[in-house]
Amino acid sequence: MNAETTSPAQKIILDCDPGHDDAIAMLLAHGNPNLELLAVTTVAGNQTLEKVTTNARALARVGNITGIPFAAGASRPLVGPQLIPDEIHGESGLDGPELPAPGVPLEDTHAVNLIAQVIQDNEPGSVVIVPTGSLTNIALFARMYPELVERVGGVTLMGGGHHTGNMTPAAEFNILADPDAAAIVFEESWPVTMIGLDVTHQVLAVPDRMEQLKAIGTDVAQFIAELVEFFGASYMKERNYPGPPMHDPLAVAAVADPSVVRTIRAPIYVETQGAHARGQTIVDFRRTWSNNDPSGLGLVDDPEATSPNTSVAVDVDTDKFWDLLFDALRRIGDTNFKS
Ligand code: RIB
Ligand code: CA
Repeated sequence: MNAETTSPAQKIILDCDPGHDDAIAMLLAHGNPNLELLAVTTVAGNQTLEKVTTNARALARVGNITGIPFAAGASRPLVGPQLIPDEIHGESGLDGPELPAPGVPLEDTHAVNLIAQVIQDNEPGSVVIVPTGSLTNIALFARMYPELVERVGGVTLMGGGHHTGNMTPAAEFNILADPDAAAIVFEESWPVTMIGLDVTHQVLAVPDRMEQLKAIGTDVAQFIAELVEFFGASYMKERNYPGPPMHDPLAVAAVADPSVVRTIRAPIYVETQGAHARGQTIVDFRRTWSNNDPSGLGLVDDPEATSPNTSVAVDVDTDKFWDLLFDALRRIGDTNFKS
């Protein structure tokens, strides 16, 4: 949509596995005026590739997202079996509200090829890739199109965490779903910003926020409220949370307005082995550089080390996040997707 902006909107590609929070992320990407959603690609994760792709196309109808390509990507990780957390997202991957029929056709090309085409068609450095699922597609892109990596403006991903996991004590789902792909993505030369559980667990869709959401009064806001109701029940049952974390929307929000998170530039390593630590994202805070304000963690720039290309979000302005989401939904308005 990106109407009424003074500076050019930031172009993004959303690579996702809808997934309740992916769905909210997609609508935020569509409605926020500082973003221009160029393409949506899917990867197996919250459910099978077929299901998350059907969900993504149906969400296009919910949000009246038209004129951009949707393509399906990897159906399993580079190595090992596909993890599917159906205890959180349900049998369809988007259980809760009734979904409309898919609103957009599926491109007759693999997601990786679509990502490459979009990167080639846009100015170098002008497109940020926002993965909100496992990183299989992004790793394949880096390996199939190495000459395009330097044209990518950055990768702002939902995944990992510097102090906790959710699938294991050490690993967050998007990383654990394909640790080998994650290692490739973090080791590449492009700038990577990790929006991990450290911050997403601070942005919970608690009842007060749900009242604000419902007060928007549109059919899309009501749809999200029904998504959150299911998502929240899963999180309460499985993890005793007072509200489900807005994991994926926070990654999109961090691109729409980087001040929504505080980030620190530091080396980040992905553990691909280990009985207990496979999928862990290890942040070396011994070697760090404050990105956008004094770290507040007593960390100072290390003039000796070479500057890492990876950053980790360490704090979040939750009010600013919710303001961004509610504003995007007001801009989308009613789409009459049920008619
Ligand atoms: O761990 C949370 C992440 O895993 C989110 O992206 C959620 O959608 C699932 O993919
Ligand atoms: Ca996701």
